[in-house]
Amino acid sequence: MDLKNDLLLRAARGEDIERYPVWLMRQAGRILPEYRALRGSLSGFKELVETPHLAAEVTIQPVDHLDVDAAIIFSDILVIPEAMGLEYQMIKGVGPHFEQTIKSEKDLDQHAQFDFNVEDRLGYVKEAIEITKKELNGRVPLIGFAGAPWTIFCYMIEGGGSKTFSQSRKMLYQNPSLAHELLNRITELTIRYLKMQIKAGADLVQVFDSWAGILGQDQYEEFGLKYMNKIANAINEVPVTLFAKGAYATLPNLAQANCNTIGLDWNMNAAEVRKIVGENYTLQGNLDPCALYANHDEIQNLTKNMLDSFKSKRHIVNLGHGVYPDIDPNKVKTFIKTVKDYEI
Ligand code: CP3
Repeated sequence: MDLKNDLLLRAARGEDIERYPVWLMRQAGRILPEYRALRGSLSGFKELVETPHLAAEVTIQPVDHLDVDAAIIFSDILVIPEAMGLEYQMIKGVGPHFEQTIKSEKDLDQHAQFDFNVEDRLGYVKEAIEITKKELNGRVPLIGFAGAPWTIFCYMIEGGGSKTFSQSRKMLYQNPSLAHELLNRITELTIRYLKMQIKAGADLVQVFDSWAGILGQDQYEEFGLKYMNKIANAINEVPVTLFAKGAYATLPNLAQANCNTIGLDWNMNAAEVRKIVGENYTLQGNLDPCALYANHDEIQNLTKNMLDSFKSKRHIVNLGHGVYPDIDPNKVKTFIKTVKDYEI
């Protein structure tokens, strides 16, 4: 199926573009009233994730209502630990919660399985992608995604979010071989999972390392980047985006990765990053998600300043992290319109 709008893919590959492509991390769900209405009628978040035609509907909402240049499949990074044998619940106002966690080698058999057919346990994601592709009918590309092994590891060790991730970091000092065994298993499975998404129709894939920034440089390179690289090396079918949030010190090494695009959070200075990574990568980002709390005029100015700071056709415009749930969708529209009107 030919895409009517393939700006995202051209920008990722470093081809010519007539304007910058724009989408928002976490655009599906969170901010749209249409999402809230559907979500409210269901038993919970997981029902939405696991019912392919509903996941497809929510995936397409931002394309219809915000006019973004890409859709991202509605799912969650936590479907991977769940498929491995760690059930989670999404608790309102708290976030994800895992009853069991990985504490020792003996937990691996039951709670860190990876030797199974991904379609058996994650076939609902494949179906959601197939339905979405059909319904999008080539309007915009569809992004597939997974959590990076380090970020998934953190959830499997902590059992939920954390301010310090000290349990996860403790394991790196006390039992590094267990940490590597678990990271290898997650990596193996994630590669097969992303390939399933690509086969189903994902046009580009992004790997989210949301907690990259909690490790020092040496540890991130050993326990984080190493596994991101394995994934990037294994995926050659479509463009790959690596987003290692907060991993500023690792950028010179991240810039050796076999990927097309490097995601920047809002703490990173685009001009500096360009100097570090060179011309062979597309950069994605990086407006502060909180900038969308400013008034419309200010959002326009902040967005233009951000675009000026990149000044390159190898740019996919986004926020520096996911859009916050209480952002007014009209503010998002101002951001998107400013990007689309910007002369390249
Ligand atoms: O980008 C998109 O819109 C596609 C869907 C998507 C979701 N989660 C849906 C979701 C994506 C790409 C994610 C990724 C994700 N999930 C990450 C990595 C990106 C990031 O933001 O750093 C992480 C760390 C998670 C884990 C997670 N899922 C948390 C911590 C929470 C609770 C708090 C929150 O963000 O809402 C979730 C739940 C979740 N994932 C919701 C949605 C729409 C909210 C669930 C609800 O409707 O109650």
